[in-house]
Amino acid sequence: MTMTARQQLVWFITGATSEQGFGAHLVSNALSRGDLVIATGRSQEKLDNILEKHENTENLRVLQLDVTNPTTVRDVVNQAVGFWGRIDVAVNNAGNGELGLIEETDTSAIRHQFETNLFGPVEVVKAILPHMRSRRSGTIVFLGSRSVWIGETPGLAHYSASKAAMHAMAEGLASEVSHLGIRVLLLAPGAFRTNIYASSPFHQENSIPDYDGLRAACIQRFKGIAGHEPGDPVKAMQILVDVVRGEGVAVGKKWPEPGTSLLLGNDAERDLYKRFDKLKAAVLEWADVIRSVWYPINAN
Ligand SMILES: NC(=O)c1ccc[n+]([C@@H]2O[C@H](COP(=O)([O-])OP(=O)(O)OC[C@H]3O[C@@H](n4cnc5c(N)ncnc54)[C@H](OP(=O)(O)O)[C@@H]3O)[C@@H](O)[C@H]2O)c1
Repeated sequence: MTMTARQQLVWFITGATSEQGFGAHLVSNALSRGDLVIATGRSQEKLDNILEKHENTENLRVLQLDVTNPTTVRDVVNQAVGFWGRIDVAVNNAGNGELGLIEETDTSAIRHQFETNLFGPVEVVKAILPHMRSRRSGTIVFLGSRSVWIGETPGLAHYSASKAAMHAMAEGLASEVSHLGIRVLLLAPGAFRTNIYASSPFHQENSIPDYDGLRAACIQRFKGIAGHEPGDPVKAMQILVDVVRGEGVAVGKKWPEPGTSLLLGNDAERDLYKRFDKLKAAVLEWADVIRSVWYPINAN
């Protein structure tokens, strides 16, 4: 689907309340194109700040939404649809990081990671799809992550696992809804200078001396990244709006197909190729074994 330049889109964005976050920059960029925006977030105070920042423009509405609360998601989505009669673009941006070594992290924190980064977006998507299906139109965006390709990084497993699950879910969804006129866009950003590194807790509910050295190195590494991430979230959200609208950098480019993602950042590109090369080398090394497990081919 290509968008006519003048078409006014209605955006529904989760987790828009972090001042330096992707969500807040997306709100600003979409408004700057003349689009209509429903910004959602957990804190009413922060939502009021967004309204104030944008001088209570008529093109912006806010709604309180904690994506981990499935009982409210459907009501909030229905209210959002009521503002302008539709949602054209739903952006699953809300997310967090629960860092920590697997054996030392209480399972409740790992469950919370999945509630926020996987089940929350799933509930949002399931609430929005009936509206998009009825119009045979819509775009669903997921903020995935290049962490999917660096799952071997100690301390990152819960976050990577939740984003890997999100990638798989987004890929499956893309294939299931394309015949209904609904597009899915999966972004895989590298490290961007938002609030996420600074705000991600490092869990050690079950401290184990065997991990003291590794844990200390992980904490120092993650602390060192905060504030020095190479990615500029303003540029990333400019690109996202371009891609959804088929404008700017997206002109002449094909929509990323199901099973692929739009990488953002040299680190994302580098880590994808590293993972690809590692996977390929392992497959080649074990090729004879890999091919040794089928039943003999029946000539008939
Ligand atoms: N920055 C990166 O390097 C990077 C890279 C790849 C992917 N991402 C993804 O990008 C998305 C946005 O993160 P960010 O980097 O912009 O980080 P951020 O600045 O920390 O913003 C995260 C936002 O998500 C909100 N949020 C967290 N849990 C929520 C919940 N249960 N319900 C509703 N909102 C919730 C936060 O709300 P509060 O304001 O209430 O805290 C905050 O507004 C996340 O999905 C993240 O995983 C980030």
